[in-house]
Parts: sequence; C-alpha cells; structure tokens
Amino acid sequence: MISVNENCFFLHTRHTTYAFCITKYGHPEHLYYGERLDEPDAAAAPLLALKRTAQVGSTIAYSQEDLNYSLDILPLEYSSAGCGDFRNSPIEALMPDGSYSCDFLYTGYKIMEGCHPMKTLPCATGTEDVAALCISLNDTRNEAELDLYYTVYEKTDVITRRCVLKNRSSSSILLRNLASMNLDLISQNFTMITFDGGWAKEAHIHKRRISYGITVNSSVTGSSSNRHNPGFFLAADGYTEQTGNVYGFNLIYSGNHQGLAELSGHDTVRVQLGINPHCFSFEVKPDEEFEAPEAVMTFSSRGLGGASRHFHSFINEHIVRGRWKKRPRPVLYNNWEACFFKFDEKKLLSLAKEAKGLGAELFVLDDGWFGSRDSDTSGLGDYDVNKKKLPGGLTGLASKINSMGMKFGLWFEPEMVNEDSRLYRTHPEYAVVIPGKKPNLGRNQLVLDLCNPEVRDYIVEHVGQILDSASISYVKWDMNRHITDAYSPCMKNQGEFYHRYICGLYEVLDRIFSPRPHILLESCSSGGNRFDLGMLCYSPQIWASDDTDPIERLKIQGGLSCLYPLSCIGAHVSASPHQQTLRSTQLSTRFNVAAFGCLGYELDLDNLTLAERREIKKQITFYKKYRMVFQYGTFYRLPSPKDNKVCWQCVSPDRKHSAAGFFQTLSGASEGPDVLMLSGLKRDISYTVSTKPQNLYIEQFGELTKHVLPVELNPNGLILHTANKYYTLTDCVEHYRGKGALIMAGIPLNNQFMGSYYNENTRLLGDCGSSLYIIEAEDA
Ligand code: DGJ
Repeated sequence: MISVNENCFFLHTRHTTYAFCITKYGHPEHLYYGERLDEPDAAAAPLLALKRTAQVGSTIAYSQEDLNYSLDILPLEYSSAGCGDFRNSPIEALMPDGSYSCDFLYTGYKIMEGCHPMKTLPCATGTEDVAALCISLNDTRNEAELDLYYTVYEKTDVITRRCVLKNRSSSSILLRNLASMNLDLISQNFTMITFDGGWAKEAHIHKRRISYGITVNSSVTGSSSNRHNPGFFLAADGYTEQTGNVYGFNLIYSGNHQGLAELSGHDTVRVQLGINPHCFSFEVKPDEEFEAPEAVMTFSSRGLGGASRHFHSFINEHIVRGRWKKRPRPVLYNNWEACFFKFDEKKLLSLAKEAKGLGAELFVLDDGWFGSRDSDTSGLGDYDVNKKKLPGGLTGLASKINSMGMKFGLWFEPEMVNEDSRLYRTHPEYAVVIPGKKPNLGRNQLVLDLCNPEVRDYIVEHVGQILDSASISYVKWDMNRHITDAYSPCMKNQGEFYHRYICGLYEVLDRIFSPRPHILLESCSSGGNRFDLGMLCYSPQIWASDDTDPIERLKIQGGLSCLYPLSCIGAHVSASPHQQTLRSTQLSTRFNVAAFGCLGYELDLDNLTLAERREIKKQITFYKKYRMVFQYGTFYRLPSPKDNKVCWQCVSPDRKHSAAGFFQTLSGASEGPDVLMLSGLKRDISYTVSTKPQNLYIEQFGELTKHVLPVELNPNGLILHTANKYYTLTDCVEHYRGKGALIMAGIPLNNQFMGSYYNENTRLLGDCGSSLYIIEAEDA
C-alpha cells in the first residue's frame, strides 16, 4: 500500500514501512525503513527525520538561506553530484554542459496499480497487492530527468527500486554510473553479509562489520559471478538467524554488479546497488533514456532467516514466471558426471533405463552430443547432432526416452564458440575479440558477441531448430567462461559492451523460450557463476555448483538459501569419493542434502550395487512425497550450538508437514547431546517426529563388524565386500510426539556412537553422517 501525505510518501508491506519526504528544496529525504508503522501521517516526517538544528562543521551549505541544510548529511533517496554530498554518488554523468555536476529536484509523482514493466530489462511481475510509485525529478538545468520507481510487494514484504534517466537536452549525456537505488540509513553498527567464492565453492557466507569508508560487493567478470553474488544483507548489531533487524538487497541483473555500504563520518550508512561502473559508459542520446536494473530490498526484525524467507516468497511469486511457477520440479538424471564426453546411444539408454527404474522423471543429456565435441577443445557453436554417438539423432533418442516414460532434456552452451568449430571458421567475426589482439581463451573457448543482432539471430534460429526437432522438455543453458577482450564492432562506445551483452542475452532467452513455454529452463554457468534474479526471470531453476560433495553443498546451498528459495536450487546426488574433493560420503547424506533443492542424480547408475539401487529408489519415492515441502515449504536454517552440525527445516504452508535435516560434518569423540531445535510448527497441535529410515553399508564399519555380526568377517575379504552389495543395516530410527510448542523447545536426540557400545538406538553418524526427520501433524 502506498500513501501520500503532504509530500510524505509511506510505502507499507505486511510487516514493513518505508518512508520518505520531499525537502523544502525538492530533494527526496529518506525518513524510515523498518517495522510497519500503523497509519503515520505528515506529522511523522519531522519526528522521523534526522534533525538539522546545527551546522555540521566542514560541510557545504546547499543554500546560504539555511546553513544547516547540507546534502552531505541528509539521508537521501537519491543523490546527485557536485553539490556538496561527498559520499559515494549514485550517478556519474558527463552532462551536456561538459561538467559532471547534476542536481535532481522533485517535480511530481504518480501511483500505479501493479508493477510498471521495464522496456530493456527483466523485472519483477505482479498485479495483485502490488503498487508502484514513480517520483519524478528534474535536473536544475533542465537537461535531464530522473524517475525513481518504487514497487511495493505487500504480501512478500519486498520493495523494489529502480531509476530511469531521460536526456532532455539536445546533446548526448555520457553515463558512467547510474545506481539502481540509493538508501541512506542511520547506522545500526551493521554487519555486511555477502555470498562469495569461486568455481566449486559458490556462495559461502562471509560476514564483516562495516567500518568508515566503503565496503564493496561487486563483480567485473561479465556475469553476476561465482565470486560475489549480487545479493547481500546488512544486519544490525546483535542480530541472529532468528532475531534482530536485517536489511536484504539483491539485483535483477546478470552482468557486472556493484553493491556497497558506506559508513559516513556522520554515522549514516549509504547503500547502493546497480550496474558496476567499472568499464561502463553509456551514451544516452537526446530524447533517449537509460533504465537501471531493478533492485530488490527487504527488511525483517526476525533476523537473517526472516529476511531470507521474504526473498523466498517474493522470488516464487514475482520473479519466477510462466508455466513452471510454483510447479513441482521434476526429479532428473543428468549424464554429465557419469560420461563426460564419452558416450554412445547404448550407454545413454542403459543409464536412462536405470534412471527410470529408480523413479527419475527426466533424463538430461549434457555436453558432447553435437559436432566434434569429444572434449572441451572443439565443437562449441555447431549444433548438428553427432551421428556417430547418436545414430537416430536427438529425435530418435528423445522418443526412446519418452517411450520409457521419461521426459527428455538437453544441454546447450549457446553463448560460446571454440576456435576449432565450423561456426568460428565461417564467422570469426561472431566472437568477442579486440581487433589486432590475440584473445584470451577460457576453457578453450571464446564468447559470442551477443551485442551483435546477427549473432543473436544465429543462436535463436539454431537452438530453436534443435528444440523443435525432438521432444525436448528441459534445457540446461550453460556458460563456461568469464568475459575478457570486451569489444564489439557493433558499437562505437565500448563502455556499453557488458550491459549490451546482458541485454542481448535476455533478448535471446526471451525469443527462444517465450514461444516454447513447456520447456523447463535450468541455467548454469560452470555451476553457480550466474545465480541471480535476472536469470531466474527466464530459468525457474539454476544449477548451484559443479561441486556436489554434500559437505561442500551445506555451505553452497546454505549460502544460496539466504537469498533464493529451494525451488530454484539444482542439487544432485553424485558418486563417492567425490570428483572435486575426493571426500567419501554416505549415499544417505548425499541425498539428504540434495533433497533441500531440486533433486537430481548424476552418478553412473550402471555401477550401482543392488543395495544402492534399492536405497535410491526409496529416496526418490520419499522425495516425491515431500517434494512440495522441500521445494516450496517455508525454510529455516535451524540453530545449532555446535560448529560441526548444520540443521535445516522445511515446513508446508499449512504447517502440518515438515522435514528437517540434521547434518554432521566431522564427528567429535564422545560428544554431548545433540538437540534438534525445530521451527515453524503450530504451537498447540500435536505432531509426531520420526527419523526417515536410511541404510548403513556394512563395509563402512570395517573391522567393527565383528562386534555386531554373529560371524567374524575379514574387513578386506570378499565375503564382506560381496555382502555389502546386497545387505544393509538400518540406521537408528527415533520417534517422538508432542505439542508443537514442546517440540520447538528442542528435542535432545539419542546418543551418537561413542565407541563404548552399540545398540539399535544409537545414532551412527560418524564423519559426514546425517538424518532426515519427518514431522507430521497428528490430525493431518
Ligand atoms: C559445466 C557445468 O556446470 C557442468 O554441469 C556440465 O554441464 C559441464 N559444464 C559440461 O561441459
């Protein structure tokens, strides 16, 4: 809801209020962002405003009429340049008069029902309980206008912000920076929480106290990047996962981004988010405009978990669109880790038959199916089927998979080209290179110039043809290198390259997938190198990481879960020891972690033992039963006082069904009690809590088997090895019941194995062990 009272604007969501007013000189002054204020009126403004009763030393007065009014200390909704605000400016523009100075003053506002769509970029959608406010500002020289858009998503407690710069002069404006949003808050001793890493270690949580000066979270790789996800939080002093004031920010954009928090000498914190100004300069011609991408903000007084849950519902409601919105995601099998480039139709059909038998719903053929793509050195760009590998083509393979009762999905990497490819030999000018300079390769490949309309047409046409040539229900859209040598002959001003590339990508995605709404698109960029809200506007799920080691995934999925709902996170069970870490983990833990996401399997199913096959079948049946709870339930990162434990929980919207994961990284000797601290249940109804039964493999106990088995077996002998393929032990199953309030007070769990004895009530977790607990309302 948006209310306006004498130049004061109040934006209300269910639990939050955002307020600003227009000062006597016409600057938009930020007043408040926090818990919902009921019915504030214009009188709220002088109360909430930062007082200006004395001149702050060393400031520049905006006007000699009021020496206490300095832009440097005013909390601003947007600032200008060269008028006395020396904090980081959200705008840097070479104006028609040759100066970098600008001063935008209020001219009026407009309120619109529903969101106001953007012309050049994807943005959040929604009509019901959504309203937009546009504040119009005009530069004092009448050379440019700046529209500030605020869209209020009432039910999900999110407000989005963006701005549009319009050139109203007769000469060009050269934009070097236009942040999507500027927010000046009074300092609450904030900790900045960012999600950083690299390949195979995406989105690890990092926390640092912001201090005087600027703390930056940015990417310059051409993508939103696996180094620093665009989303971040500012958490007030004393916050926890469950309590305290937390502000969350994210950007609906997949290119170079910059988010920052600047603690000023006067203890206000300036937050900005938008396109990274690095190598950016955009010419806005007379009567043209430039749209900055949409930024997303939330506030919660319920800690990091509260802010995360706002983002989850916002993304499920207003970012993901099309046929797959809020729909169950299929359990898939992907052949990449089983085959890499080495497969033929026989191998694929054998994997598919196994996958079907286990319960998979979708078979995905990954890299290597086209051109001369037998390694990552050749073939990218040529999307003609390799008939040696697939004699019946994709049509034949897809129909065989379909007749097994599974959907068929296909991998592409359309933004790239190998030098050793027909496409590159025919059209070297399609690749991103700087004339006269030998380009740098990444994974032996070059980037295609998506700024070039001819290249976009090539991709749309060729990918489209393949998609229509067979029964394809899913696409994995990969992108496996960072951008260097940024240059396109299609533009005079190369400062526009990175932004135009991303706009080109969005155009291509739209042209390919809008006419094919049945296709589920999963985007990927060497794993989670482009895990962002821009991609989620096209692809309802994203491959989180090439690293499927469940212990690493606790950090990766745990980090991503702060910003994105589980319905968007691709998570697979792969082989052990693991490809990236060489760590051995139980099949149960690999599943238990992957269940907190969109489940898939990626290991070579032809190598499964009978016991593993049985276990996977049960896992998939179980997941299908609780899939909506895992993918769309309310998600909690549960408290765990011990460093070697991670606990997660998903709760159905009616709070009658829930699943919780209890994960142990390294086991400790003779540990004290483990307590399961559940959340989100109804306090006054009765629930049962039981462990999901799972298998233990005899071999994992080595010589210890002689203490429990009636016969003594050599741990390295053939008998134990053979028995391990067929027989398993069942891990300890616990059962509890009680009222929600009692259960949420914390359940001390059965003892773990401590080396002193074993019985069937002993939890046998060891290193990397885990359990799932199922919580059901008794009247469900
Ligand atoms: C990188 C992806 O992240 C992998 O899952 C796989 O698709 C490979 N590319 C294929 O080249």
